[in-house]
Amino acid sequence: MATATRRPAPEPDTTDARTFPEGFTWGTATAAYQIEGAAAVDGRTPSIWDTYSHTPGKVKNGDTGDIATDHYHRWREDVAIMADLGVGAYRFSLSWPRIQPTGRGPAVQKGLDFYRRLADELLEKGIEPVATLYHWDLPQELEDAGGWPERATADRFAEYAGLAAEALGDRVGTWITLNEPWCSAFLGYGSGVHAPGRTDQVAALRAAHHLNLAHGKAVQVLRAALPPAARLSITLNIHHVRALTEQAGDLDAARRIDAVANRVFTGPLLGGEYPADLLADTAHLTDWSFVRDGDTALAHQPLDFLGVNYYTPTLVSAATDDGTHHSDGHGRSAFSPWPGGERVAFHRPPGETTAMGWAVDPTGLYDLLLRLHSDFPGLPMMITENGAAFDDYVNPDGEVHDPDRIAYLDGHLAAVHRAIDAGVDVRGYFLWSLLDNFEWGYGYSKRFGAVYVDYPTGKRIPKSSARWYGQVARTGTLPVAGGSGEGTR
Ligand code: FCB
Repeated sequence: MATATRRPAPEPDTTDARTFPEGFTWGTATAAYQIEGAAAVDGRTPSIWDTYSHTPGKVKNGDTGDIATDHYHRWREDVAIMADLGVGAYRFSLSWPRIQPTGRGPAVQKGLDFYRRLADELLEKGIEPVATLYHWDLPQELEDAGGWPERATADRFAEYAGLAAEALGDRVGTWITLNEPWCSAFLGYGSGVHAPGRTDQVAALRAAHHLNLAHGKAVQVLRAALPPAARLSITLNIHHVRALTEQAGDLDAARRIDAVANRVFTGPLLGGEYPADLLADTAHLTDWSFVRDGDTALAHQPLDFLGVNYYTPTLVSAATDDGTHHSDGHGRSAFSPWPGGERVAFHRPPGETTAMGWAVDPTGLYDLLLRLHSDFPGLPMMITENGAAFDDYVNPDGEVHDPDRIAYLDGHLAAVHRAIDAGVDVRGYFLWSLLDNFEWGYGYSKRFGAVYVDYPTGKRIPKSSARWYGQVARTGTLPVAGGSGEGTR
């Protein structure tokens, strides 16, 4: 991906009735550790996120996923909310330690049953279940055995994928192997702001490779176990990297970050090899001898679509020194999540920000989709996450009004619509998130939900954005900007 361009002018929106193609998938998304709770129920054992969140100082306010939104017990109500809103699909993740607690051996029937019931209820309500196999909750025992920097973890993952496919393949048709392996590898093992909290740049690169390998092995197992019509994918948080200026140093900073953020995954997964510039940029750290013959070919499996998560662009320039604090949008650390990306400064793009401090920039999504389309022609895409945290609160009338979130969603959906108009094959969109939930290192302090959760009681209150999004999903059309819908401010 050639990424280094200056911030382009926003594309004018020339369409009136912004109607999406027939058959476009409208969904919401969640992840197991962020919503389920029931951490020690029905045989589940700790994942790396249980360990990490219970380690003092790691998560804001000492929050953990022990109870979260208690979705494990309230799932029926949550499906009913989705049905009421009228969304057509639900992307959830399977908790590996609920299904295979030690990461080895047979599956726990109760764990599988939970997801079977959930999928049945979704199907019953006309909502398509989309399962992510791994949204960051590695069984702790596998981390104790070395975690993702160890090659054997890829084999464990493929085995777990087989157990899940066997139990759910008759009711789940769309599967995503990994969610955002960049975060697993580089925040988990590099900067340490995610579980398991290690700070070792070589371990992070090894983890990235073993995640690529795990994906390839799992896709082979899934293809063998699932009906031929099953759709397989991986979700990447492709960073839309922009250079601050067109000076050579800044352009090179953008190239290096693009390599270790994006092409470390798209290279092997979609092209069958690691990019030469990434290997050169990281040569002072490792010779990459952990990549064995055949590995990248194995990682390069045919996919039915690419899952793309987008929140905000990344703006970089050359820095004269290495700096000590590295911002990655998920927290600050003295350790870098960017091996090979030394002497790069990160900047907050201008304009409005969300409660995460992330710039609101729908043009970034448009540009990203066009770039992916030109780099990987013919590859269908789904936006598997997009959304925003704002400081929502319940009004005295009991309602939660979130016009900022509606504006964010409207702007980003309009960008998707423009990309489709420009010829990009985008098949669906999943709003992150159905519910307010455990936002990793930020705990419960950041609310991303279309549905408000009152944590002390577990009560759900659909926000204005939930109703707005439901209408968009039911009609397949964005209300005309400037009209009287809730999307206007
Ligand atoms: C993504 C994660 C998701 C959520 C959003 C805000 O990186 O996949 O779980 O935390 O960010």
